[in-house]
Amino acid sequence: MIEIKNLHKNFGEKKVLQGINLQIPDGKVTCILGGSGCGKSTLIKCLIRLEEPTSGHILVDGKDITHLNNEIRLAAIRRHFGYLFQEGALFDSMTVGENVSFGLKYLTHVPESEYPRIIKEKLALVGLQEDVAKLNPSELSGGMKKRVSLARVLAVNPKAILYDEPTTGLDPIMSDIISDLILDLKAKLHVTSVVITHDMNSAFKIADYIAFLYEGKILLYGTPDEFRKTDNPYVKQFVSGSSHGPIQMKLMKE
Ligand SMILES: Nc1ncnc2c1ncn2[C@@H]1O[C@H](COP(=O)(O)OP(=O)(O)O)[C@@H](O)[C@H]1O
Ligand SMILES: [Mg+2]
Repeated sequence: MIEIKNLHKNFGEKKVLQGINLQIPDGKVTCILGGSGCGKSTLIKCLIRLEEPTSGHILVDGKDITHLNNEIRLAAIRRHFGYLFQEGALFDSMTVGENVSFGLKYLTHVPESEYPRIIKEKLALVGLQEDVAKLNPSELSGGMKKRVSLARVLAVNPKAILYDEPTTGLDPIMSDIISDLILDLKAKLHVTSVVITHDMNSAFKIADYIAFLYEGKILLYGTPDEFRKTDNPYVKQFVSGSSHGPIQMKLMKE
């Protein structure tokens, strides 16, 4: 279980997260919904300390990990959480296999002789054949790149996977395949999943719980069913994707 308590994150004068309180249960899929620029990526970057929280606490299995600085403990956090970057971010100069085994080198003590077995196993988990390992990232489609990025995350056996907009930029069919894959990994590995998305279809399909982020706070937390039935005008507008409602999009540059 991951607990976020009164988390604040400022960038200079700009207050992005303004007191986030959220519990992320083990083995479930928690979706974090919200408009562009509302702080979704910042929130999960704070979880794995790619960003330093301004204040507040993050507890993992009851232990406060917020203000650890020790390199080894930070490495342990990064092993506990697998992070699927929004951009995918495969290393273009490495083969698929080298990409998948990358984290094993610096996060684990797994001997190199084990790498081929692990690469094969993790590629299979994301529905890819062993021979994909020889390819370069430039030879892959968008959907395959996402899968390889996910296999790289899975290589170090994280307890929780943080997905940053895993379906953005994919066509609807590929998006649905990725949603199925997230559910499949939850079922097979009992992994905790935190999925950032503004894809309502995906959220309703995969989420056990949804947290709606607005103006730096969680405006609504509940099951997909509670989201479908909500009277909250902000959430209703977001769910329906309407340009009319209380959420005024800032089209002008801030
Ligand atoms: N490193 C940074 N320095 C300054 N501002 C940032 C930084 N990262 C994010 N921001 C700002 O914080 C806000 C939230 O960004 P982000 O978390 O990426 O939003 P989202 O993922 O919800 O689209 C945005 O206004 C963004 O410009
Ligand atoms: Mg983002």
